[in-house]
Amino acid sequence: MMNVGIIGAGHIAEKAARTLAEMEGMSCLAIGSRSQKKAQDFAARFGITRAYGSYAELLQDPDIDLVYIATPHSCHFENARDAILAGKPCLVEKSFMMNAVEAAAILALAREKNVFIAEAIWPRYMPVRDMARQVIASGVIGKPVMLTATLAYNVSEKERVLQPSLGGGALLDLGVYLLNFVRMYCDSPIRDLTTSCIRAATGVDASEVITFIHEDGTLSTVQSSAFSEGNNEGVITGTTGFLVFDDLINPTCLRICRKRHIVEREIPVPKQITGFEYQFQASADAISAGQLEPVQMPHAETLYIMHLMDRLRTEWGVPTSSAV
Ligand SMILES: NC(=O)c1ccc[n+]([C@@H]2O[C@H](COP(=O)([O-])OP(=O)(O)OC[C@H]3O[C@@H](n4cnc5c(N)ncnc54)[C@H](OP(=O)(O)O)[C@@H]3O)[C@@H](O)[C@H]2O)c1
Repeated sequence: MMNVGIIGAGHIAEKAARTLAEMEGMSCLAIGSRSQKKAQDFAARFGITRAYGSYAELLQDPDIDLVYIATPHSCHFENARDAILAGKPCLVEKSFMMNAVEAAAILALAREKNVFIAEAIWPRYMPVRDMARQVIASGVIGKPVMLTATLAYNVSEKERVLQPSLGGGALLDLGVYLLNFVRMYCDSPIRDLTTSCIRAATGVDASEVITFIHEDGTLSTVQSSAFSEGNNEGVITGTTGFLVFDDLINPTCLRICRKRHIVEREIPVPKQITGFEYQFQASADAISAGQLEPVQMPHAETLYIMHLMDRLRTEWGVPTSSAV
């Protein structure tokens, strides 16, 4: 049994707790919150036996095998550093850190201390990733030429998303999935990048469009917004057809289309709990095998994405650190 401790009793921690409650071989043993009462309420709701009123207490629990960090982006560095120094393997919610400098420092510390660390960017760990790769390799859509995707959720009322000091903005919250979508299905290096962003009154990026031309001639255009609701589909367009992810983050199926919207084949994804189970399972497997990173999301890839997000925010004039 691998015992998970969750840090931060917020929105996504609830989904993680629900997922872990249904997994075999893993359980949520403890919740850590800045408030003892909040930790106790959370523990009672999800049948968690240990409730800590500080993150430090959770990190001292010798029975915790994996720490899941579910705090705002601006807290990830400190939380991950403390977990590593306590010798605890950790799975850190996306976006991994505030910027590439923080990410590089944490990855170096984890390596030095021989501690597993991974980014919880869940589509990387899902079976649909291999399913899509197999469809592409089969040649049914021909040679991939374009990747397009939109990810828009109206999360503009959330302080965590609005405030630069908490690592807000559409890119760290939503755009990170789009960059991972591009990287998962097009491994050709980026030759040209063009981008524009609309800023919120608080200074964070509210909506953005990003276009890459890859060295092999593939074109990727993605857009995200934290101020609107989108269709949130991803499409890989090839010379003879296109492949649709009905939901970019958590697809229910892949649709293979040849002409306009005529669906030639629909491939459902395997039955799942919430879709979060794959990242927890991958972490457990890697830790059991003595690995310091998961094969599904290697450290180099996490760092690459962080560098790319720094570059985009620098172009937009949006802060890349919480020191604002
Ligand atoms: N994978 C996904 O689908 C998904 C979806 C949404 C968000 N996320 C990611 O999950 C992380 C948390 O997002 P969330 O939506 O769960 O946020 P949230 O609801 O605001 O919860 C974050 C928690 O972090 C703790 N925290 C520590 N310092 C804080 C501070 N200065 N201000 C506010 N909260 C603080 C709080 O827990 P305590 O009060 O208990 O200490 C809070 O409840 C982010 O990295 C986000 O990108 C992932």
